[in-house]
Amino acid sequence: MRAKARPWPGWFITFEGGDGAGKTVQLRALAAFLRKSHMTVVETREPGGSRLSEAVRELVLDADHDNMSPRAELFLMLAARAQHVEETIRPALDAGSVVLCDRYGDATYAYQHGGRGLDKGAVVSMHEFAADGCKPDMTFLLDLDPQAAKGRMAARPGQTTRIDAEKAPFHTRVRDAYLELAKREPKRFRVLDASRSVGIIQDRIHTALRQQGVFGR
Ligand code: TMP
Repeated sequence: MRAKARPWPGWFITFEGGDGAGKTVQLRALAAFLRKSHMTVVETREPGGSRLSEAVRELVLDADHDNMSPRAELFLMLAARAQHVEETIRPALDAGSVVLCDRYGDATYAYQHGGRGLDKGAVVSMHEFAADGCKPDMTFLLDLDPQAAKGRMAARPGQTTRIDAEKAPFHTRVRDAYLELAKREPKRFRVLDASRSVGIIQDRIHTALRQQGVFGR
């Protein structure tokens, strides 16, 4: 493995994208691949990834809370993150693991700022406070037209959360905010066309990680 100037020996890799873009499938496939290559992998997700954060997930995604204010939603996402970083992510990175996280801070920007319209500066600084310096080394953004994503979601009924159920313009704003972030940080982001096959996307992810020195240069 290539020497790298970062605060921890592990790798922090996040997967982002609109609902239905297929990031979870890719994350699991990558975890299996890295384990085969004898790397220690921690698979986790947001909101969630620790006992307290999973309890917050239940609450914040529960379709029953249809009157949740955007600010309350933001605070819950960040409370879940603060605990997740402290209890799960940072210890794993310090121990040299590869942490694969299904959503992280970019989701807060895309959903709570882009989707809900909360103030950009407030969302960014509050996320930074919750994350306490824990920033991904690399982020894969699975980009998909919200209409196509909706079709995919319809094919897996029973999993729709309070946020998935938002109308099309919300999901378009989320997508635009993600793409804006990717443009701003081209070194960290790899934008992947999520309409391509699972295998093609997988190959692109492997190539990017090889270039980055995560494995087998
Ligand atoms: P998912 O993990 O099944 O994709 O669902 C998580 C939902 O939570 C998804 O709709 C995106 C949303 N979310 C936010 O709105 N803000 C956040 O900071 C995070 C991590 C997720």
